[in-house]
Amino acid sequence: MPQYAFFKGQIVPIEDAKISIMTHGFNYGTGCFEGIRAYWNPIEEQLYIFKLLEHYERFLHSSRILLMNLPFSAQRLAEITVELVRLEGYREDTYIRPVAYKADEVVGVRLHGLQEQVSIFATPFGRYIDTETAHAGVASWRRIDDNSVPARAKITGAYINSAFAKTEAVLNGYDEAIVLTQDGHVSEGSAENVFIVRDGVLITPPVTDNILEGITRKVIIELARDELGLQVLERPIDRTELYVADEALFCGTGVQVVAITKIDHRPVGTGAFGPIAKALHNLYFEVVRGKVRKYRRWCTPVYVNVPELASA
Ligand SMILES: Cc1ncc(COP(=O)(O)O)c(C=O)c1O
Repeated sequence: MPQYAFFKGQIVPIEDAKISIMTHGFNYGTGCFEGIRAYWNPIEEQLYIFKLLEHYERFLHSSRILLMNLPFSAQRLAEITVELVRLEGYREDTYIRPVAYKADEVVGVRLHGLQEQVSIFATPFGRYIDTETAHAGVASWRRIDDNSVPARAKITGAYINSAFAKTEAVLNGYDEAIVLTQDGHVSEGSAENVFIVRDGVLITPPVTDNILEGITRKVIIELARDELGLQVLERPIDRTELYVADEALFCGTGVQVVAITKIDHRPVGTGAFGPIAKALHNLYFEVVRGKVRKYRRWCTPVYVNVPELASA
């Protein structure tokens, strides 16, 4: 359990980080958030926060869409986060949750004329889906649209869409949902992006198909191109392409990299963890723990001693 939180501009004991039941963000979902992971590297005795600045850049984009004007740069939020996590002293994998929310204690749904606050807490965290191979079900719930509730922004209230899809999937016996756009193309999972492999080409829906522009998605695209030499396409995906794909995978900060081995009761490819998904999975876990010199710049150390890597 966390001992501290960043709340109303300072780091305070977690029990002092409380909001009123009248808070606007609580009543109307007028907030945005991030999910950031920090990975413990036991050999270096170091905790590495993955893609810290990128998460705060997206956080500021989300806040801008919600008509917020936060008094922090991404760099400053990153510094506060390192300070908070260092104070917690975690020596295990950790999840960091910043939220920016409309903080006024008033009745009346709107975005304008309200004050914002930022809160951050960090808590130990393991796997999000309790398996490395998932059975996914296509949800009966459709993805929210950019002109109704923009999926590009990580809006707290928007996650009711994810909650509908996730609960339907789990109650129907699947591990996770795949959600379609209003026009029936594959968008993403309830809280993760989707890739398929067809004839050796890695394919993922474009950012215009109502996805969250995932930071892990971008990492997977880069690693696939630069390390595995794969062709990567961002293009619309039909539902039935899921059924004929050779491989499929979910990726995201929470889920990390999980192979989708069955979709709607049909095996994906051979129904086993495929070679491309496996290679990306293994590479990802090396990279996030700061073990690959080339990608060490993606990892922010929390503690002060940072020994140089002996080899790449
Ligand atoms: C709806 C949704 N899509 C995709 C992702 C993956 O994004 P990221 O890789 O930036 O964590 C998340 C998780 O944050 C999500 O909630």
